[in-house]
Amino acid sequence: MEKIFWTESVDSTLTWAKEEAKKSVGKELDGALFVANEQTAGKGRLGRVWTSVPGENIYMTLLLMQPEVRAENASSLTLVMGLSVAEAVEEMAGIDAGIKWPNDIVLSKKKICGILTEMQMKEQKPDFIMIGVGINVNQKEFQEELRNKATSVFLETGKEMSREELVTKVTACFWKNYELFLKTQNLKALKEEYEKRLLNKNQQVRILEKGTETIGTARGITDTGELLVEDLQGKVRKVFSGEVSVRGLYSYV
Ligand code: BTN
Repeated sequence: MEKIFWTESVDSTLTWAKEEAKKSVGKELDGALFVANEQTAGKGRLGRVWTSVPGENIYMTLLLMQPEVRAENASSLTLVMGLSVAEAVEEMAGIDAGIKWPNDIVLSKKKICGILTEMQMKEQKPDFIMIGVGINVNQKEFQEELRNKATSVFLETGKEMSREELVTKVTACFWKNYELFLKTQNLKALKEEYEKRLLNKNQQVRILEKGTETIGTARGITDTGELLVEDLQGKVRKVFSGEVSVRGLYSYV
């Protein structure tokens, strides 16, 4: 069992994990999990804020110290975690979860989970990697501007779920999938399970990248986690997950 640190309130579990990682010695905190009941400055992708109401949801960061993962493959861990959250929610709630590339977990076309991975380098190698996970578990209502794109497991199933059990299940799924990932340093062994849940597959997507917008049809992912998008001329290109936002043509997915 890995080490679990819990706190009532923190700015961001990513920032907290980073401070602890910097103070730690060697691999003593490898696999440690930092969990908070509330975040006062939760971080989302692309510089966005992750609204983190107290008491109802999961805000956690998994820390990998001096991992075997090569720097160029670290962003794929976000997809590994995304698949793990989908599997854990499915197992506990008994419903199908979808994935919106690269790593939003979706129920009824609305987001229940976001993942943000950060890495600290040392001598050209990852010194540590932090995978931050936010899951809307028991939240009963959302602020107006989030209502059409965010939901919670509770709102979709009508049942409250134990956050402790879900944290345990997500981490167990992650370690199983991480082991498969490490064998090839890519998503080869996980691609089938990921694509089975990929809601964008064969759907038209709008890609917003560095101020430009393109439209195409998503066809799946590569072994390294890029989205394959076919343009109107039938040419397929790879979209990297960095500074890009992908949307459906008419809605969030
Ligand atoms: C996204 O924009 O979809 C990513 C959201 C990631 C949120 C989680 S909550 C726990 C961890 N700490 C943070 O500040 N952010 C991540």
